[in-house]
Parts: sequence; structure tokens; C-alpha cells
Amino acid sequence: MGKKIQIAIDGPAGAGKSTIAKIVAENLGFTYIDTGAMYRAVTYKAMLENIDLSDAKSLEKLVLNTSIILKPSPSGQLVFVDGEDVSQLIRSNEVTANVSQVAAHSNIREILVAKQQQLAISGGVVMDGRDIATHVLKDAELKIFMSASVEERARRRFIDNEKRGIPSTIEKLQEEIAKRDQLDSEREASPLIQAEDAIYLDTTHLTIEEAANEILALARQKME
Ligand code: DC
Repeated sequence: MGKKIQIAIDGPAGAGKSTIAKIVAENLGFTYIDTGAMYRAVTYKAMLENIDLSDAKSLEKLVLNTSIILKPSPSGQLVFVDGEDVSQLIRSNEVTANVSQVAAHSNIREILVAKQQQLAISGGVVMDGRDIATHVLKDAELKIFMSASVEERARRRFIDNEKRGIPSTIEKLQEEIAKRDQLDSEREASPLIQAEDAIYLDTTHLTIEEAANEILALARQKME
């Protein structure tokens, strides 16, 4: 049993973060925390309540009055909003198309970041997102910035969507991914950028297993 370190994995949509982070966490006996799910949960509830997603104040009120719970389970992380299991609902095309707008509000980020830091306080976590290494867990022992080409990421999302029964086309997904990359990287509040002390991992030509093994080897060094 090594040290219970914090592992931060950042990168754009479809780079393989969640799949790989989950495997790494399982192998180390760590908890996997998908922070994107929190932004999705807020977006889901805001859309349900017909809140204007550009209205930062109303969104803040909503977040402060909403319980968002992440629960690890053998089939992956489950997400509960006010007690309801929304793990599947937050992956819909509608939520995906609107989540960048919600994640761009700095007041919403502050509230969610505090929750994320609380979840990671005792270590033994693999957390994935966009600003984990640069903001949420600045002192994480291992920081990975994971990416892959837009074409490859669209292909992976397509396969993922097929499995979940969500209709999509590769062309449309490429367009959406490129747009989301741009929104996430160019926003003012905590844009998606590689931390100076993060290790860059390009997964375009790696299998899931190869990418996970690279991170596991790095993690084990840090855990000694
Ligand atoms: O990883 P994902 O696709 O579930 O993320 C959903 C959105 O939330 C994405 O547009 C970027 C945003 N996000 C963020 O701004 N910061 C995080 N730590 C995680 C996700």
C-alpha cells in the first residue's frame, strides 16, 4: 500500500479521460471523481427549471439550493441531483450542448470547485476535468494533460453514443467537439490549459489499456 496521492487528469472532451481515469482508480483502489458530471448536473437542473443559462445570479441560487452527490459504484460514478439518479440524463445531447455555457460562470465554478476540493481532501483520488491541475488540486502529486486529435475524439464519442442509444453522426460530433474545445479553452474563468507541471499524454494512437498503464506506472512512482 503506497501513499494515497491525488491524481489530476485534464484535457478536452473525448480524449479518454473518464474511461482511463476509472481504470487507474480501480487499479490503485482510489476513488474516481468526474467533475464534468457536476457541471452537467447543474445544467440539467437549470434546463429542467427553465432558467436562463446566461443568468449567473439565478444559476447561483439554483446551485446553492441543489444537492449534487457523486457516488462511486461498480458500474462507474453515479450522479444524484436532489436524490434522483440522473447519471444517464446528464449525458443527453441537450445537456452536452449547453454545459459549456454554464461552466463559463466563475461564481458557479467557485461553488463546485470547493465541493471538489472537499471530496479530494484525504487523497486516494483520481479526478478528471478541465482545471483540476491548474485550480482544483494545484498540489496534486501527479498531473496528466490528456489529448487526442479531434477526428479520433469524435470517432470515440460516436461509438460511445451508439452504446448508449444516443443518435449522432461523426461529422456533427466533430463540429460539436471543436466548438466545445474552443469555448472551454477561450473562456475567461479557468480555461482549459495544460499546467506547467503536468505530463502531456496524447492518446490518439494508444489503446485504453496502454494509456492507463502509462499513468499507473507514473502513479506508482509517486506513491513509493
Ligand atoms: O468532461 P465533460 O464533457 O463531462 O464536461 C462537461 C463540461 O463541463 C465541458 O464543457 C467542460 C466543463 N468542465 C469544466 O469546465 N471544468 C471541469 N473541471 C470539468 C468540466
